[in-house]
Amino acid sequence: MIKPLVTLVGLLHKSKISEQVRYASQALPQLSSEKYNIKRKDFGTIKSSDVSYFKSILNEGRVLTDENDVMPYNIDWIKNCRGQSTVVLKPQNTAEVSAILKYCNEKRLAVCPQGGNTGLVGGSVPVFDEIVLNFSLMNKIESLDDVSGALICEAGCILENLDNYVRERGLIMPLDLGAKGSCHIGGNASTNAGGLRLLRYGNLHGSILGIEAVKADGTVIDCLKALKKDNTGYHLKHLFIGSEGTLGFVTKVAVSCPVLPKAVNLGFFGVENFENILKLYKSAKSSLGEILSAFEMADFDSINSTVQNLKLPNPIADYPFYVLVETHGSDDVHDGEKLSRFLSKEMESGLIVDGTVTSEPSKMQTIWNLRESIAGAGLVVGYVFKYDVSIPLKNYYDLVPILRKKVGDKALIVCGYGHVGDGNIHINVTVPKYSQEIASVLEPYIFEEVSKLNGSISAEHGIGFRKPKYIHYSKDKSALQLMKDLKQLMDPNGILNPYKVLPDTV
Ligand SMILES: Cc1cc2nc3c(=O)[nH]c(=O)nc-3n(C[C@H](O)[C@H](O)[C@H](O)COP(=O)(O)OP(=O)(O)OC[C@H]3O[C@@H](n4cnc5c(N)ncnc54)[C@H](O)[C@@H]3O)c2cc1C
Ligand SMILES: *[C@@H]1O[C@H](CO)[C@@H](O)[C@H](O)[C@H]1NC(C)=O
Ligand SMILES: *[C@@H]1O[C@H](CO)[C@@H](O)[C@H](O)[C@H]1NC(C)=O
Ligand SMILES: *[C@@H]1O[C@H](CO)[C@@H](O)[C@H](O)[C@H]1NC(C)=O
Ligand SMILES: *[C@@H]1O[C@H](CO)[C@@H](O)[C@H](O)[C@H]1NC(C)=O
Ligand SMILES: *[C@@H]1O[C@H](CO)[C@@H](O)[C@H](O)[C@H]1NC(C)=O
Repeated sequence: MIKPLVTLVGLLHKSKISEQVRYASQALPQLSSEKYNIKRKDFGTIKSSDVSYFKSILNEGRVLTDENDVMPYNIDWIKNCRGQSTVVLKPQNTAEVSAILKYCNEKRLAVCPQGGNTGLVGGSVPVFDEIVLNFSLMNKIESLDDVSGALICEAGCILENLDNYVRERGLIMPLDLGAKGSCHIGGNASTNAGGLRLLRYGNLHGSILGIEAVKADGTVIDCLKALKKDNTGYHLKHLFIGSEGTLGFVTKVAVSCPVLPKAVNLGFFGVENFENILKLYKSAKSSLGEILSAFEMADFDSINSTVQNLKLPNPIADYPFYVLVETHGSDDVHDGEKLSRFLSKEMESGLIVDGTVTSEPSKMQTIWNLRESIAGAGLVVGYVFKYDVSIPLKNYYDLVPILRKKVGDKALIVCGYGHVGDGNIHINVTVPKYSQEIASVLEPYIFEEVSKLNGSISAEHGIGFRKPKYIHYSKDKSALQLMKDLKQLMDPNGILNPYKVLPDTV
């Protein structure tokens, strides 16, 4: 269930102390502006009169200016970026977001929206002194239609809380990310988050039915229809999905929730080579049909380093590749039979060398936990260059061996894992320590290669602060110009999440 406000505020005060201790005892990441040599744009600077104004529309407790209180909002999840904001605002409703933006627009004050701050491309933290908006207090569920499955809620609802809420009513959230315990539905919408079951439930452009958002000048755009079909002119909600807070701030969403599957089965298989993974994927689609809900892969190095570092159990022996196949359906016996038949057929053909199939919740959890830990194991020794790319399936894994060769023994591990069903591979290059030298071996090389393979340089994490200079590898000039024209139209003063997504030159 969603926590009542009182509890959240109470928690906030308690966590303050531990946070101060945490940040004092850790080396802070270098300032993003220095690390990436960025010039501050010509925005206004915050005066005490601005802070007084914010305190007049929110209340005192929802305007943070103490350096220690503000610090966590300046640092991103992977501790790669650090901004210099001095003010954090915590609006409680759309009207407050509107009043804040209207004022900031008039004063040319830049703003940075922050959801769960789990974003991986530096989009959710300021670069200079942008005012941070924390959406956590906008966590109310407005309605749930248990016949259509339409859920309407505020942007700051935590994905996991929403999932628990709708599950009690026989539904599930259409997405399930590794970061679900902290990411917000508004942050998800703004990044068009993908996740583990996109293969089955589609991406957010399909499952978000409606959006309410606030433009830079404070105008509230109401596209919050909870209809599956609505062809009345331009599909404006899509402008806010995936635009990472650069065109407007998402305040509410209407999401279409699928039915909670009665039967869930999971298989974990060892496979000899990547070519066999593709054959297996084709076979899974044909054998399992509409119940196939996830088809994930990981190479040996991904699994081995996760298993070793985190002391997790691997349910099967060592293989060059692993595949995870999940089904969501309505009939336990029927679905289990389908999956077992698929397993025996492909063990006989040799595509699967070893494997296990289970419908027992605790065993499924062990397997999913292993898969999800690859992305956020946290216990890596060294610095990770992390890439999130889409590549047409026939070339899906090509880059991993190419990079292994290119970086040679400068890297501790080069590994690949991801969502085969979506053509999305995550590549980690772990080195002992960040250095400009190794960075320049990898970038822009990897983006050039992705571009040559007709892929996308950002499959799900977005462009954020880290990748605007590489966006041209995946978007042509005319498309980039149209993005700039839209930005100019919706945010003429450029106050919404500056230094993100759009490159300075086209
Ligand atoms: C362990 C782990 C696993 C992950 N797995 C996946 C995965 O499987 N698939 C995937 O796609 N991503 C994944 N991510 C990335 C990340 O969780 C997603 O991008 C997520 O959608 C971000 O949500 P958030 O609420 O944390 O947003 P934040 O990180 O706070 O913000 C993300 C972007 O959205 C903007 N923003 C936030 N809220 C709003 C709002 N209300 N209005 C306008 N703009 C806003 C921010 O300015 C920023 O640019 C993972 C991250 C981690 C740490
Ligand atoms: C945003 O505010 C909420 C509730 O007030 C808090 O729990 C959360 O930690 C804050 N975000 C950050 C990055 O501190
Ligand atoms: C939001 O994104 C996170 C992380 O990518 C994911 O785990 C979660 O399922 C998403 N939430 C929704 C409602 O899609
Ligand atoms: C598995 O990982 C451990 C720890 O990272 C490493 O020492 C070992 O060499 C790896 N095994 C293989 C076969 O690469
Ligand atoms: C991949 O990179 C992420 C983010 O840096 C890290 O948390 C994770 O442990 C890495 N996983 C592997 C297997 O290298
Ligand atoms: C990429 O697309 C172009 C144009 O459609 C095509 O000519 C080329 O062969 C493709 N490249 C690869 C590696 O598939």
